[in-house]
Amino acid sequence: QSQVLFPCNIVLIGFMGSGKSTVGKLLAQQLEMEYVDMDHYIQEKLGLTIEQIFETYGEEFFRQHEKETAMELGLLNNTIIVCGGGIILNNENIVNLKRNGKTILLNTEAEEIYNRIKDDKSRPLLKDKMSVDYIDKLLCQRKSLYLDAADIIVDTHDKNIDAICKEIVGTL
Ligand code: S3P
Repeated sequence: QSQVLFPCNIVLIGFMGSGKSTVGKLLAQQLEMEYVDMDHYIQEKLGLTIEQIFETYGEEFFRQHEKETAMELGLLNNTIIVCGGGIILNNENIVNLKRNGKTILLNTEAEEIYNRIKDDKSRPLLKDKMSVDYIDKLLCQRKSLYLDAADIIVDTHDKNIDAICKEIVGTL
C-alpha cells in the first residue's frame, strides 16, 4: 500500500551527523521503501572506504563519483536515498535527485552535530579539525545551499528519531 502512496524517492540531505542514515533506515522500514546510502554505494563500487578514497585520490575524485552516483540513483523509484553531506556542493546533483524524488533537509545545529560525531574518525573533512567552531564554520558556508536544495525542511533539534520520521511522513 505504501508503494502506492509514495511512488517516488525520498532524498535525505543535511550536514554530516545530522542523522540521515538513522532516519533513512527507519523511514524505509515504516514506508516499506528501498534504502540506499550514497556513500556506501560509492564505497562498494570502488572497494574503498570514504577515508581511503579521500586519502588516495583526493576530494575531487570523490565528488566526481558522487556526481555519477546522484545521476544513477536519481533514476530509481520508491527508494529512500541518503546523501553524503556534501551533495549540495554541486547543484546538478540536486537536479538529478529531484527528478524522481523529494529532498528533505535534516536541519541541525553545530553543537548537536559535534556531540554526535566527535569520536567518529571516519569523516575526512573533519579529521584533525573536530570542534564546534569548525563545524559551525562549514555549516555556515553551506547553509544556503542546504536550504535552497530542500523541498522540505525538518528541524531535528531536541527531537528523537521517531518524532523526526513522523514529521517527515506527515509532510509527504
Ligand atoms: C561529506 C560528508 C560525508 C561523506 C564525505 C564528505 C561532506 O557523508 O560523503 O566524508 O562533504 O559533508 P556523511 O554526511 O554521511 O557523513
